[in-house]
Amino acid sequence: MKVKLVIALFVFAAFSGYSQKFDNLAQTPPMGWNSWNKFACDVSEDLIMGMADAMVSSGMMDAGYEYVVIDDCWQVGRDQNGEIVVDKERFPHGIKYLADYIHAKGLKFGIYSCAGSKTCAGRPGGFGHEYQDARTYAGWGVDYLKYDWCNTTTQDSRSSYTNMSDALRTAGRPIVFSICEWGSTKPWEWAKEVGHLWRTTGDILDRWDAMIGIVDKQRDLAEYAGPGHWNDPDMLEIGNGGMTTEEYKTHFSMWCMMAAPLMAGNDLADMSDDTKEILMNQELIAIDQDPLGKQASCYRDNGDYEIWGKALENDEKVTCLLNRSDEEKEVQVNLTYLLKASDNYWYTYPYKLEDYKVRDLWKHEYLKTDKSIMVTKMPPHSAKVYRFIKK
Ligand code: GLA
Repeated sequence: MKVKLVIALFVFAAFSGYSQKFDNLAQTPPMGWNSWNKFACDVSEDLIMGMADAMVSSGMMDAGYEYVVIDDCWQVGRDQNGEIVVDKERFPHGIKYLADYIHAKGLKFGIYSCAGSKTCAGRPGGFGHEYQDARTYAGWGVDYLKYDWCNTTTQDSRSSYTNMSDALRTAGRPIVFSICEWGSTKPWEWAKEVGHLWRTTGDILDRWDAMIGIVDKQRDLAEYAGPGHWNDPDMLEIGNGGMTTEEYKTHFSMWCMMAAPLMAGNDLADMSDDTKEILMNQELIAIDQDPLGKQASCYRDNGDYEIWGKALENDEKVTCLLNRSDEEKEVQVNLTYLLKASDNYWYTYPYKLEDYKVRDLWKHEYLKTDKSIMVTKMPPHSAKVYRFIKK
């Protein structure tokens, strides 16, 4: 009898311990780098090690980027025991070697698989091998798993992802679980208990219209995000060449406003000064990583001109003006309105503009706030981000 009780207590303690490790992850949106947007299937040990090196030497690690994630195409088959087989030509020392290398730099390591029988690039998927793969990943030292949705035929999304989530918990290593079913079955309504982040749309492209189209699809999702469970509007395209510097600044501004995971998708070993300045804008990163974990909403929509805002910890606020048009726009801004309206506090908000300093997070300077009305010029496709900082 006693023995049974001890065993039961041990099992309970073990499982609640695992679950606690899982639940405490991603308290702020995960930050890192993923191979897909720039390199697609052209991944290798050399490439991933080079990116880990560059994450450190470029200052990205110090800026908060942490996970180095290999996306699709590292896997080529399954052996007679069903174990996943790594592409030996591209990853000659195996995946654990790579994970150890990345960990030795103080970074974390992520990998990709798929809930279906095959990945989107046609490599072996996880279907039917969930517990086996989770054990393998834990043994390799994986810290982050992106789990895709190709080739799933009649599978139910919620139960498929729950199955892998349970497998990861059972494997016992804290692994951030990134659900990638492209928003097709409204994961924001069911995935909070299953994973730490979920894609809300199809794939981003390195183009203004595609990027801003993704922003539009996040408008009604703010209430679903918070510490440990994030909407994921896909990885960053900054530095990949398809948008102007102004457009990339807008891309980063909006991702930080939306408390989106910040997964750089460019070549970290070859970054222009503009790309570095954008990806490592510490004041914007602080908006993304604010401990309150709020996702911004659009509270003013004048067609091509929008105003987004959200609350930050300690009664601070952040507001983003967005000029979506192809023309320069001169806008008149009422700072008192921005402060009060950004969190639906218009009538009850206890603070006044005089209680705050207002900081431009791209210019890195304070605004003159002696007058509440300010006129500012906005280039085409640009964003301005203002933080209301308590005096
Ligand atoms: C899907 C995902 C992408 C990427 C590819 C890999 O399209 O949405 O982010 O992982 O598969 O094949």
